[in-house]
Amino acid sequence: MALDERKGVWKSGKGKGRHTPKGRQLDDQAHDEVRALLGDAPRRRDLLIEFLHKVQDTYGHISAAHIRALAEELRTGQAEIYEVASFYAHFDVVREDETPPPALTIRVCDSLSCELAGAEALLAALEDGMDPAQVRVLRAPCMGRCDTAPVLEIGHNHIDQATPEKVQDAIAKGDTHAHIPAYQTLADYRATGGYETLQSLRATGDWEVVQDKVLEAGLRGLGGAGFPSGKKWGFVRMNEGPRYLAVNGDEGEPGTFKDRYYLERTPHLMLEGMLIAAWAVEAERCFIYMRDEYPAVLHILATEIAALETAGIVPEGYIELRRGAGAYICGEESAMIESIEGNRGLPRHRPPFVAQVGIFNRPTLVHNVETLHWVARICREGPEVLNSTEKNGRKGLRSYSVSGRVRNPGVHLLPAGSTIMDIIDAAGGMSDGHSFKAYQPGGPSSGLLPASMSDIPLDFDTLQPHGTFIGSAAVVVLSDKDSAKAAALNMLRFFEDESCGQCTPCRVGCEKAVKLMQADRWDTGLLEELSTAMVDASICGLGQAAPNPIRSVIKHFPDEV
Ligand SMILES: Cc1cc2nc3c(=O)[nH]c(=O)nc-3n(C[C@H](O)[C@H](O)[C@H](O)COP(=O)(O)O)c2cc1C
Ligand code: SF4
Ligand code: FES
Repeated sequence: MALDERKGVWKSGKGKGRHTPKGRQLDDQAHDEVRALLGDAPRRRDLLIEFLHKVQDTYGHISAAHIRALAEELRTGQAEIYEVASFYAHFDVVREDETPPPALTIRVCDSLSCELAGAEALLAALEDGMDPAQVRVLRAPCMGRCDTAPVLEIGHNHIDQATPEKVQDAIAKGDTHAHIPAYQTLADYRATGGYETLQSLRATGDWEVVQDKVLEAGLRGLGGAGFPSGKKWGFVRMNEGPRYLAVNGDEGEPGTFKDRYYLERTPHLMLEGMLIAAWAVEAERCFIYMRDEYPAVLHILATEIAALETAGIVPEGYIELRRGAGAYICGEESAMIESIEGNRGLPRHRPPFVAQVGIFNRPTLVHNVETLHWVARICREGPEVLNSTEKNGRKGLRSYSVSGRVRNPGVHLLPAGSTIMDIIDAAGGMSDGHSFKAYQPGGPSSGLLPASMSDIPLDFDTLQPHGTFIGSAAVVVLSDKDSAKAAALNMLRFFEDESCGQCTPCRVGCEKAVKLMQADRWDTGLLEELSTAMVDASICGLGQAAPNPIRSVIKHFPDEV
């Protein structure tokens, strides 16, 4: 064949060649911007979410050109960056033909305690009163400040007991950054003997002695699952190293704010507890996964981790602080691990368990923030700090996050055998003009119980016979002014928004449940059928527990539905 005849193979009909590969081209300016933001950070794929935060924080959104540039820097595909960025609520991905969001975003919490405190009216007032070209008003799930409901976040400034006037005032003052509370610094903590326990354990300690102490104290996982903490250390150690430790600071279960409470006051108790647990399982590195809704805690931890490095208590880089990006499901431990690896937070199938195959496929010890707070206290004060308290046949203490219709909402540290009446008492009684009707014992995953069931100790194992559980001890108190049916709908809306979508019973089930629950009269037969499918066939605890509000309201408040 003559050379001329073969030309068509290489050139288009009009004789014009293609100068670039197909697809979106690298934009020089966006590439320079991304390189400047990343600086000399290692181009590790697991740091993707940290890098996306840098772009979002600087430009207020993540453009297609930035995604292309990030893909170039990380030597990966744009689709991979896109699927991660678009998974998380706090990233605004903007394509070439779309308009970026305005400079200021207000997120209004619409979860249960805030709804009870008037979040809907607040939202409406803000939507009416703001210029959408300047300010964007969004709904958002629980921000872990339910004791000061209704709450909103303007930029990164959280406004408690929010009103449109407070918002106007913050905008006028440009007050859009996190306010850092006074807390116990490393120097303060060391002045009270802090880190002496860790140092002496590192010098001469026996991990099994510590494990026995933790078991004797009766410490169980305070992230909600209640697994005996000492036992978990043994499981992790059974797997050959290198091992990792991950702190679960996602605290997304609406109504829960105990982890934030402790971290904003005594962050080093968690940090020392973490380092003791890391010593016990010989963890090569620790990761702290902290939700993005807690900017003050992120600041405190970054500062105090640097102080620990300077003091020589940990080598540089031993503790990696990772910032979540607005996804409740990342509190589920295997989803959290996916997120730490820089992926979408999709829960993994088990087995293998994360104690065997966790971060980067290594055995990983995962603990909730508060669990580690107690590890430090048990090691310092002895198992008695927990096991010497007894009430109603239950041992130990529980940090109840209490909100709703009580006079003094907040974290109340009480005996683990406390009933709802004890908790309402500790919270100053019912709010004026309200009489007790119902309560959520442990987050929306636990559903609702009626006031008549007021003599049950709210602890691990005690609620299971009643079809519910204590979970993270997020207690929300409802009154005669509230509707159990509306509360259940609020809970299911939350699950619908937060379902990761990877399994159909949960993804479709939550959506259908919300539709059915909006009816004046519930089709209880159909809702029950749907609930069974969700419980039986969902991969993780979100889909398995999501029907609890439906079932509990059908059972205990039949008149309402
Ligand atoms: C849907 C879902 C959300 C969860 N969210 C959290 C959370 O925000 N914080 C947490 O510590 N544990 C959470 N957990 C429990 C974790 O999977 C895990 O059990 C816990 O972090 C282990 O630590 P612990 O033994 O100290 O409790 C969640 C579980 C599920 C199923
Ligand atoms: S149950 Fe829901 S949240 Fe859990 S993996 Fe399935 S779709 Fe995702
Ligand atoms: S902050 Fe609004 S419900 Fe928790």
